[in-house]
Amino acid sequence: MVRLLERICFALLLFGAACERSDTFAEPSLDAGLRQDLSRWGVIPIGPMAVQDPALVDLGRALMFDPILSGNRDVACATCHHPATHEADGLSLAIGTGGSGLGPGRTLGPGRQFVPRNAPSLLNDGLGLFYLFWDGRLPNVLGGPPPSFLTASVAPGVSNLLATQAMLPVVNRQEMRGEPGDRDVFGAPNELAQFADSDSTAIRQAIMRRLLAIPEYVAKFTAAYPGTAAGQLRFEHAATALAAFQMQALTKTDSPFDRYLSRDDAALTTQQKRGGRLFFGKAQCSTCHNGPLLGANGFANAGVPQLGPGSPTTPPLDRGRADLANQQFYEFAFRVAPLRNVELTAPYMHDGAFPTLEAVVRHYNDVPLALQTYDPSQLAPALRTAYHGDAATVDSVAKSVDFRLRTPLHLTDGEMGDLVAFLKSLTDPSARDLSALVPAAVPSGLPVPR
Ligand code: HEC
Ligand code: HEC
Repeated sequence: MVRLLERICFALLLFGAACERSDTFAEPSLDAGLRQDLSRWGVIPIGPMAVQDPALVDLGRALMFDPILSGNRDVACATCHHPATHEADGLSLAIGTGGSGLGPGRTLGPGRQFVPRNAPSLLNDGLGLFYLFWDGRLPNVLGGPPPSFLTASVAPGVSNLLATQAMLPVVNRQEMRGEPGDRDVFGAPNELAQFADSDSTAIRQAIMRRLLAIPEYVAKFTAAYPGTAAGQLRFEHAATALAAFQMQALTKTDSPFDRYLSRDDAALTTQQKRGGRLFFGKAQCSTCHNGPLLGANGFANAGVPQLGPGSPTTPPLDRGRADLANQQFYEFAFRVAPLRNVELTAPYMHDGAFPTLEAVVRHYNDVPLALQTYDPSQLAPALRTAYHGDAATVDSVAKSVDFRLRTPLHLTDGEMGDLVAFLKSLTDPSARDLSALVPAAVPSGLPVPR
């Protein structure tokens, strides 16, 4: 076919017609088809993020990397959401306080357990997602600014959703706060761990006492909130700064795919375009992954194997959204993951069951079979025994697998390769190396996770 077109090209050249590449000549229908798919599935350009107040961003950056927010002074937000691992941690399941090391090599502390879920990357979480967390337990109904892709320039401000989220990890015992009786990295009692779980206000006040005892934080808070007296600062102010940092520094939406969305046909390779057509067509990915973010707007049971300690209500299972009040219908359902920059944030799914995009696509090619035959040797050794491959568990996940995933897709190896190539077109090149985000030091003087 291409040969033939080249010949036609050559013939046209003889007649002096412009004929650049056989490629552009051969595939007008690929672009036309893909552009039709995009409009059919509501994939419109995301648009720019509003610029955040630099003083707020500066405070938020310090807080993001400072272990002082954790009871034992050993874990920062960045321990689990680190630039080196593209704002995630490279682990299947996160490891909180007591752990040591960073990234995929991080290990559990004595007597500690894995956090039940995978730490999602924070990239693009400031885009006004409809839901945060794998089970979507934080919905975007909090009256924050409208999603930035709906209004090109929202007023400088913060996403209330992200700021609300930032209130939570510090009260979570496993992630940041620690257990009663814990001692911090200096051997001093962990005063944050002594509060009852229900006393989140007191916990956050105690964190603010820690922060405001450090002159550099007083200066940063004063710069970020010039009209607010020190006595009136609350953890909400810190959380708002954490959100501003994420919105400013972690919004990465200049991928080849985004450029293609802005009508640059040359932004994608032919293979990526073929993968795109499969994504929106034969492979049916877009029946769930659609809209500007290719996800983050619904829930489904994607037949992901069960792994890890599970939720506190139904250990060792993690029934996902079904654990929330009045959501029993969503058995083993999780948030349809948004897919920008997904290439950079392995391992994948709510429990990190798959180490590569190839493994994810193979799973989708035949979900019922993949669920039955999951191979735990693809997990880190420390997690292999935490795979729940017993027939009862596998059956209960299989029973409620989303109807769209019950029949095999019959994708060829070549087609699966095309899909992976498409997924890689969602990577913003500037997200590949985020090391410049790591500060040299933080105001507490504690070691910056690096
Ligand atoms: C011990 C590891 C750990 C630490 C420390 C941690 N997180 Fe997370 N984070 C997680 C995990 C795991 C989830 C997913 C939990 C779930 O979905 O149930 C998550 C979810 C999130 C989300 C939602 C992402 C999404 O797309 O749904 C945001 C935002 C976030 N964390 C920000 C923060 C901030 C800000 C801090 C510090 C105040 C922090 N995290 C500290 C592990 C951690
Ligand atoms: C029935 C809805 C549905 C369909 C169809 C679907 N997905 Fe998903 N996808 C999800 C859900 C839900 C998750 C999260 C599942 C979990 O963690 O248990 C997910 C997760 C993913 C992830 C992991 C993202 C991350 O950050 O961990 C990738 C990659 C992905 N899907 C790609 C695809 C591709 C490619 C296709 C088509 C072959 C596809 N999906 C089809 C619902 C779907």
